[in-house]
Amino acid sequence: MTGTWQRGRLDGPREAAPVKLWLCSNEDLAPEVAGILAAHWLDEQEHDTAGRFLFERDRRQYLVAHTLVRRALALEAGLAEAELVIWRSSRGRPFLQPPADGLPRGGPRLDFNLSHASGYNLLGIVRDHRIGVDIELLDRDDHAISTVLGTFTREEQAWVAEAGPGRERQRRVLRLWTLKEAYSKARGLGLGLDFDSFAFTLADHRGVQGFRPPEDDPMRRWHFAELEPVPDVLVAIAVQAGGLTTPVIHLHHGFPWNRSTPHRIALSESVGGREPDPVGV
Ligand SMILES: CC(C)(COP(=O)(O)OP(=O)(O)OC[C@H]1O[C@@H](n2cnc3c(N)ncnc32)[C@H](O)[C@@H]1OP(=O)(O)O)[C@@H](O)C(=O)NCCC(=O)NCCS
Repeated sequence: MTGTWQRGRLDGPREAAPVKLWLCSNEDLAPEVAGILAAHWLDEQEHDTAGRFLFERDRRQYLVAHTLVRRALALEAGLAEAELVIWRSSRGRPFLQPPADGLPRGGPRLDFNLSHASGYNLLGIVRDHRIGVDIELLDRDDHAISTVLGTFTREEQAWVAEAGPGRERQRRVLRLWTLKEAYSKARGLGLGLDFDSFAFTLADHRGVQGFRPPEDDPMRRWHFAELEPVPDVLVAIAVQAGGLTTPVIHLHHGFPWNRSTPHRIALSESVGGREPDPVGV
């Protein structure tokens, strides 16, 4: 038997907390319901932002995304939705501010990240580490694809060129783009990070085989995942590595009314800089 008894339990390698993902389309929450929840849950700044959209469809997306954030964080943290304090960094990255006496449920540190595109909202939540998520639809025109491709490294551009023009080229470009955004969002840099300062090596169909981090992140190792939870909807997740085990993803579909049973999906083994110290974290 491996592991030791400590404080009355068997301690093997510390199992990483799962990465929780919520994929919620705008259709999963009726506009009247989203409006009522938002009226009760959103803070002043969120109300202010919601009030500034010119188009109703954009306002709807914002209300679904932000009621999703507050509901899922409330379930994770054990606080009421309206009591959650969410602040933004100078680069706009939202963080949960724990109350002075800590979060009631599940440990002190909780990180989250949100992405929304064309009626889909994706929220990632993880404990103890940083997370970034991105969601994109395979619906870009050739001009947009060429522009995005121009921001990648030479090796990445060469890998895309192997696919030839058309849909497979678009898919390769958006796979790289979602991964780059997810990584950059995990670090809170958004589009402030040059996308040719770091590189991914991807399997032809799906999966991250290698990652060369940017110079300001040389030692870090990361877990990544690429998913296609709905046909032609591409999702990427980046989670900072730490600890001895690889976390799994719990993917939930729909609005988090309750603790539904998730789909369990593996993240990649960590890739990137030097191997972490055996003690982890
Ligand atoms: C973050 C960013 C990449 C979003 O791009 P996008 O593909 O349009 O949007 P996504 O749907 O994937 O993500 C948007 C969400 O990411 C989150 N976000 C915003 N800024 C972020 C950042 N710097 N890092 C991580 N997440 C961020 C927010 O929750 C945002 O949704 P919300 O505004 O409704 O709360 C882009 O807005 C960006 O680069 N912002 C930073 C700009 C910057 O560097 N400013 C410097 C000022 S000095």
